[in-house]
Parts: sequence; structure tokens; C-alpha cells
Amino acid sequence: MLSALARPAGAALRRSFSTSAQNNAKVAVLGASGGIGQPLSLLLKNSPLVSRLTLYDIAHTPGVAADLSHIETRAAVKGYLGPEQLPDSLKGCDVVVIPAGVPRKPGMTRDDLFNTNATIVATLTAACAQHCPEAMICIIANPVNSTIPITAEVFKKRGVYNPNKIFGVTTLDIVRANTFVAELKGLDPARVNVPVIGGHAGKTIIPLISQCTPKVDFPQDELTALIGRIQEAGTEVVKAKAGAGSATLAMAYAGARFVFSLLDAMNGKEGVIECAFVKSQETDCPYFSTPLVLGKNGIEKNLGIGKISSFEEKMIAEATPELKASIKKGEEFVKNMK
Ligand SMILES: NC(=O)c1ccc[n+]([C@@H]2O[C@H](COP(=O)([O-])OP(=O)(O)OC[C@H]3O[C@@H](n4cnc5c(N)ncnc54)[C@H](O)[C@@H]3O)[C@@H](O)[C@H]2O)c1
Repeated sequence: MLSALARPAGAALRRSFSTSAQNNAKVAVLGASGGIGQPLSLLLKNSPLVSRLTLYDIAHTPGVAADLSHIETRAAVKGYLGPEQLPDSLKGCDVVVIPAGVPRKPGMTRDDLFNTNATIVATLTAACAQHCPEAMICIIANPVNSTIPITAEVFKKRGVYNPNKIFGVTTLDIVRANTFVAELKGLDPARVNVPVIGGHAGKTIIPLISQCTPKVDFPQDELTALIGRIQEAGTEVVKAKAGAGSATLAMAYAGARFVFSLLDAMNGKEGVIECAFVKSQETDCPYFSTPLVLGKNGIEKNLGIGKISSFEEKMIAEATPELKASIKKGEEFVKNMK
């Protein structure tokens, strides 16, 4: 049972693999047959927060859905295959999670995925804007720094844009930061919380070690190495998988953690906080990840950057040009679409 994965009561709210609250969330996974999509769908199927789980992909969804549907949990699972079935997979959804798209191979940056994934995300989010415009949209597909602006522009084109409901899922960066800090300090990772702000690629991933709870200190050389490892953790997995893709299992965990937090908040739980890459006025980047208080209607409050060290300020300054360029690239892509 997933309850075995649940964090101890009183542990940070962000770890809300909650199994207590009941609700009837209808969740769609687009790209459900992929390396992330399958384990993510398994975790969602295992949650009592989900009553209907629709699995959309351009391949294999009948099999994945048949398999998951035998699990003895309440979520009704149905598979949808190919573009003609996409609208039905979305109708009535409260939350849509999108891991559809190609992953990196060794030597590739996330931006190298742009050409393929921009079209996939634009197509899928256009269908969301049409068939479930009120749903929370959680984008996992990379490059997140561009796929969020793409999603926003697609929703604007349809006249249904709500910036409080569009999230770039950066949770894996927080999960990794928590794990690596815990390893170095001999702590229980479940009790470590490192906010990670900025974006989701290389140096735009900005872990705020100065805001870690519990408080931790590192000499500058160790701090630099730790931050470098968090920023390049995705590449660590891409290299280790040697051509077989990028992070899938830890990403499924992180995606499920984000969705469960969102569902808890939509269900009325207070004080649910997650970082995500969203429309933002916290810096001069129009999209930026910071800790967010989640609520019934998505982002309830942006908690901003808070007090940071001069080293972290420098990281933000160094990341800003790349982040702005990736955002612009996404916006231009939609503007140039027919
Ligand atoms: N946000 C993050 O932290 C993070 C972490 C890891 C990976 N990713 C990204 O997630 C994405 C998916 O990674 P993966 O390892 O699951 O890849 P994968 O190739 O294993 O799976 C992708 C799935 O998307 C499907 N797909 C392709 N085009 C589609 C379309 N038009 N409509 C619906 N489905 C479509 C494929 O059939 C496949 O099942 C990649 O872009 C990867 O870079 C993001």
C-alpha cells in the first residue's frame, strides 16, 4: 500500500502522500505508457484521492489500462489511444499531468528536446484548453522552462488562461536536494526540506541550501559540489541509463507527490506548500519557481524567494539570461504556430 510510503504525521506538509482524506478527483495522465507515465499512473491508481484515472497516449494505453485496472483500489481506470480519443480522455478532468514527450539521451540538454516536445505539449494543452479548461495542468515534459510558457500561450489563445492552474513540475529537484543533503549530513531525508527555485535545467535549478530545514552548513567547496550535483542530477541518471532514457521512477514519485499535494489542497487541506515553475512576479523572469501555497483554485499565494545568501543571489543573476531566453523561445513558438 502506498500508505507504507506515507510520511510520518507532522513531517513537512509537502510530503503529503496522504491516504486519509477522501475525494473524487478525476485525473488524466497524457503520455501514460511511457517511462514516467506508467509508474506515475501506478502511484495515482494507488491513491484514495483519485476516483477516475484516464490514461492517454499514442501507444499501448489499452494494455497499461487493463493492467492497472485490476488493482484493488477505487480509481476507475480507462485507456484512450490516439488523437481521436484525446478529447474523451480529458472531459470532466480536475487534474491533467503531462509526461508525454521524448526524454534525453547522453550528451543532450533539455533544450535539445524542444523541437519535438514543444509540438507535443502545444497539441496536448490545446486539447486541455478546449475540453477541460478549468483543470489544473501539471507539465512534466521538458524543457519545462519552455513548455510552461507554451502552455500559457496556448491557453491565452483560447481565452481560458488562468496562471494559478498551470504548473511546471520541478518537484524532482526538491526530492533530489533533500536526498543529497540528508546523505551528506546523516539525516532522515523525510525530514529534510530544501526549497529549489528558478527553473528546471542546469544552472537555472537553484537550491536554497541557506533555507534548508533543518538548518545545515557546508564549507564553500562542499556547497558548490552539492549544488552542482543537484543541478546535474538528471544528467547523472541519463548517463547511467546510457541511452535508455532519463529519470523515470524518481520522477514518477516526484510527480505523484506534486499531484497528491495539489489534490490535498483542492480538498481543503491548509498549508500545503510545493515549489513549481509558474507565472511569477517575484523576479524579472515572467516565469519562475518559488514555494507556493496551494489551495482549492491552484496557487493561493506565492511565498517568493525569501531571505537568501549572496551566493544564492549570484546564482539567480547567472541563471536569469538563460531562463528568459527559454521562456521567450516557448512564447515565440506558440505565436508562430498557425
Ligand atoms: N520535469 C522533470 O523533472 C522531468 C524529469 C524526467 C523527465 N522529464 C521529461 O518527461 C518526458 C517523458 O519522459 P519519459 O522518460 O517518460 O519518456 P518516454 O519516451 O519513456 O515516454 C514518453 C511517452 O509519451 C508518449 N507520447 C509521445 N508523443 C505523444 C503525444 N503526442 N501524445 C501523447 N503521448 C505521446 C510516448 O508514446 C511515450 O509513451 C520527457 O520530455 C522528459 O524529458 C521531466
